[in-house]
Amino acid sequence: MLLEYFIFGLITFLMTGAQCEVTEVFAEAGSQAVLPCKCNPSASSPPAILWTQVNKGTVWRKLKSGLQYWGSSWTQKGVQRVRCPHSQFERNDFSLQINSVTEEDGGVYSCLVQHKDNSVENVVILRVIRVSVSSAVPISGDDLSITCKVTPWPSGAKVQWKLNNSPFYITVDRDTDKSVVMQKATRRLSGNWTCIVSYKGKEGRASASLSVKGIMQPPKDNTKLYAAVGSAVTLPCVFAPGLNPFGSEWEKLKSGTISKTALGQLPPSFSLSSQSSRMPWDKSARVEEVGYKDEGSYRCSGTIRRQKVTRTMQLVVAKIDSSTPSKTKAAVTLTCQLTDASDVTDYEWVRVTYDINGTQSVGPIQKGKTISISRESDEKWGEWACRFYGKEGILGNITYHVPLMAGLTGQKSKGLSHNTTAVAGLSILLVVLLLILVQMFKNHQRRKRIFQYPALETIVHTISNEREERERNQVKN
Ligand SMILES: *[C@@H]1O[C@H](CO)[C@@H](O)[C@H](O)[C@H]1NC(C)=O
Ligand SMILES: *[C@@H]1O[C@H](CO)[C@@H](O)[C@H](O)[C@H]1NC(C)=O
Ligand SMILES: *[C@@H]1O[C@H](CO)[C@@H](O)[C@H](O)[C@H]1NC(C)=O
Repeated sequence: MLLEYFIFGLITFLMTGAQCEVTEVFAEAGSQAVLPCKCNPSASSPPAILWTQVNKGTVWRKLKSGLQYWGSSWTQKGVQRVRCPHSQFERNDFSLQINSVTEEDGGVYSCLVQHKDNSVENVVILRVIRVSVSSAVPISGDDLSITCKVTPWPSGAKVQWKLNNSPFYITVDRDTDKSVVMQKATRRLSGNWTCIVSYKGKEGRASASLSVKGIMQPPKDNTKLYAAVGSAVTLPCVFAPGLNPFGSEWEKLKSGTISKTALGQLPPSFSLSSQSSRMPWDKSARVEEVGYKDEGSYRCSGTIRRQKVTRTMQLVVAKIDSSTPSKTKAAVTLTCQLTDASDVTDYEWVRVTYDINGTQSVGPIQKGKTISISRESDEKWGEWACRFYGKEGILGNITYHVPLMAGLTGQKSKGLSHNTTAVAGLSILLVVLLLILVQMFKNHQRRKRIFQYPALETIVHTISNEREERERNQVKN
């Protein structure tokens, strides 16, 4: 009896149509969405299938005979945007594929599978996610908004943002039907923006890429540039490739003022980099010989699409102060001085030597801002370099030439006498040379005179020969 009731109940349930659970499907706008519709195997004959979008009518249907029909809005120029792959039918899978989903496709769908004696309905909610940016190529400084829209919006969903795969936290406004990130455009915000929506255990995501244009180098304001006194330095100001900033200029801001109009003097050897003519977006400048007074704030600016973009940077100049403590005259003290040492965490000193090929090599490292060098040792004079480091590594270096003797009064005179001896020696050598030359000249002149009278020489020769002959004969006799 009980079993009969159960079977009867089951049949009525199946006859009136069973409804599966509502399935949530997320799809990114433009991608392919798959709306599942799977049923338990039942009758052997092929079922009739009807896919409808609630309130919008038929999407696709297949009669028992196998004839297919498409809803008019799903066919464009003979191309169907939806399909139900036949290959899956054997497995009782009647899932619907929608290509290039749009926000309008979002909504409730029903899949009705009709067998001879029963029908099963699957309900699917398709939620289309789209991330849009207010401007795909904003200029840095612009107001920027990145919007994540889900159609239809799942109330109570959790939204998470990622920028280049790392979480980007924003305060979420719960009452809206979308999630919006509002920021001032900076280079930092360039990249892939992904919105991740979690709802009822399902997760959907969509991305958009953003490229903030403006000054790419230096990447942020107040970037510090380090240069040694007397060296050359490039002040970078590189706009995004392809941009042609209008009315670009360089200014030096007067130190100690925040006012935008207080301008200082650009260094005398300041010039625009030669790159600029080849690449109009490169407005870098160069200072050929940095002076200690050239330190301070520099500002580069240019106008792109009627918007002025600026970048400021700090030139920090390094120099070496040397002093000779009065007590120990044979020693010299070197101090590494920077106009702004706020970012410097470490100083070190090395002695630099060069081999015959000009290859640089350095001696042992000595830590500290100041170093004391004894010049009595041969190993100490020559080139010394002070390297300064920040948190992220080396910031720069500056070299100083420690003279062997100079600067020491006691040894200076010794050095002078040394020189005098050398000069005296040289003079003597010169005089000797001169004398030799004069002698050679005299000899030469004499020989020249003899050659002027070759006949006379022969006569003299003959006379002497005759005399010898006569003398020999006298001896014989
Ligand atoms: C952004 O995403 C696209 C597609 O997902 C990928 O091809 C690209 O490499 C990503 N770019 C970055 C900077 O992560
Ligand atoms: C100098 O250069 C030559 C050839 O380039 C090389 O054979 C030699 O070893 C180098 N000498 C030193 C001291 O590096
Ligand atoms: C100083 O810096 C220059 C340029 O970065 C580098 O070529 C040189 O080797 C450095 N000198 C020392 C002693 O570190």
